[in-house]
Amino acid sequence: MYRTHNCGELSAANIGEKVTLAGWVQHNRDLGQMVFIDLRDRYGITQLSFNEKSAAGLLEQSKTLGREYVIQATGQVIERASKNPKNPTGEIEIFVEELRVLNVSDTPPFTIEDESDGGDDLRMKYRYLDIRRNPIKENLLLRARINIAIRNYLAGEGFIDIETPYLIKSTPEGARDFVVPSRMNQGQFYALPQSPQTFKQLLMVAGMDKYYQIVKCFRDEDLRADRQPEFTQVDCEMSFVEQEDVIRTFEGLFLHLLKEIRGIEMDSIPRMQYDDAMRYYGSDKPDIRFDMRIHELNEVTKGHGFGVFDNAHLVAGIAVDGCSGYSRKQTDELTDWVKRPQIGAAGLVWIKCNEDGTYKSSVDKFYSSEDLKKIAEACEAKAGSLILILCGEDAKVRKALGALRLEMATRLGLRNPDVFAPLWVVDFPLFEWDEETQRYYAMHHPFTSPKAEDMHLLDTDPGAVHANAYDIVLNGNEIGGGSIRIHDPKTQMMMFDHLGFTPEAAHEQFGFLMDAFRYGAPPHGGLAFGLDRLVAILGGNEIIRDFIAFPKNNSGRDVMIDAPSALADEQLDELSIKIVQE
Ligand code: AMO
Repeated sequence: MYRTHNCGELSAANIGEKVTLAGWVQHNRDLGQMVFIDLRDRYGITQLSFNEKSAAGLLEQSKTLGREYVIQATGQVIERASKNPKNPTGEIEIFVEELRVLNVSDTPPFTIEDESDGGDDLRMKYRYLDIRRNPIKENLLLRARINIAIRNYLAGEGFIDIETPYLIKSTPEGARDFVVPSRMNQGQFYALPQSPQTFKQLLMVAGMDKYYQIVKCFRDEDLRADRQPEFTQVDCEMSFVEQEDVIRTFEGLFLHLLKEIRGIEMDSIPRMQYDDAMRYYGSDKPDIRFDMRIHELNEVTKGHGFGVFDNAHLVAGIAVDGCSGYSRKQTDELTDWVKRPQIGAAGLVWIKCNEDGTYKSSVDKFYSSEDLKKIAEACEAKAGSLILILCGEDAKVRKALGALRLEMATRLGLRNPDVFAPLWVVDFPLFEWDEETQRYYAMHHPFTSPKAEDMHLLDTDPGAVHANAYDIVLNGNEIGGGSIRIHDPKTQMMMFDHLGFTPEAAHEQFGFLMDAFRYGAPPHGGLAFGLDRLVAILGGNEIIRDFIAFPKNNSGRDVMIDAPSALADEQLDELSIKIVQE
């Protein structure tokens, strides 16, 4: 038997017991006549002690134990002379009577402490050592707890877990597919699923009624803090449901998690229409932990001889409380911030609503104090607010103000990771216009049903058609999305037609689904949560990499196993793939 207890469970109640522990050497403090070793495992840290009263040779042997050696120690639990109230095992130590080295270790390339001295790249290369550190270990434990809580909740609601294949045919959902060559079908490729969307719909046709799966999805897209090329969805689908049924079910799941994981009770999740989200927050995933909404200012700014505003499609601004004291340097710096290509504003107009009731602005030449007061009122600004105004084309201005709003909130500490503000964004448009290719794309995916009341606009004004589609947003992050699906072949064909598919192309790509719809498809709908994002945000962080055991870096590489990598010629030949060097 390697151990009687783990390193996190012994307390004063065990004093006098003889125990055996096994784990890694976190720390070896050699005080000459005494040696203290912190022994670590997944459960915690227990102090081992050695001194001149130890059995012959033990004190000397203890001095040879390096960091990360794997050892087994047997001894008596004794009361500690200097207790450590921060450590759950801090009242006791083990006075070691027998010691066995189970394995030696090279000196690790970075310190395995909560605050490590290892940079990102190094920690990724030795991820198994990184995972020994508390912050990453805790994140993985949290993920496992959330995973179980989700499974229990959904099972309790009658959902069944069904696996769907990973080697499939490409389904267009906005990103590029990762593809896998088939040896047995030369020249042909599978695609890894971007999501199990069509399969879960087929399971509804198959009568499974309530499906879920915690499943890997693959998307070959540019990576960001909240995106990985392989990520995990909590994918769900239900039959005989309307939007309201789906929202209620998954609102229940989310609120259950919030209570189980963070101890926060909330009755319901507010809802916002997509159009309002874009109008007031410049984003389809507003962070509503704070208000600072966008106000339209064309009416109150026009006709004062300031051509930039007079000629603008939209003049709009936000009032940032408590920032009227910004210096010239600070407002200049904000101006530079909005002019960066990522934001793309031509300039920034500011108005300070001073505490003494006076106003000062960057456009004093055109606007009197009385005029500035009117603008301030339109922005619902208070004494002490700094109003920031942008102008230009409608969508661009709102998007830029949305980004500025988040930036100001970050600077003011209004984005507290321990505060949770979930939101349903509903009534998404069915289509999205793409300037570059001059055509419509499905905003969610091509299987999303249009709202019945907008069906008559499909031919005349497709951009105005709303969908039975909804997203769940948490603290400004899209943590899930779904829709009620089309379930009759005629509407589905019409949708493909609007998306520019010829009947032949639609048949070639989605014939299997259209065929299935001919055999009694029930009305159905569902949603998928992004598990990595959900776990990260509930863990107080928005960088999903820290919540994935073996993530990819920003170039999509696994630096630990060094993937992707070239294939041997024989392997390529077998697949009849020729690499052509440029
Ligand atoms: P969608 O594409 O919105 O919907 O994906 C669902 C959720 O998955 C998460 N997500 C990601 N997380 C990490 N890295 C990525 N690259 C990534 N891409 C998406 C997001 C997102 O909200 N089949 C539909 C769902 C449905 O309609 O039922 C779908 O995949 O949190």
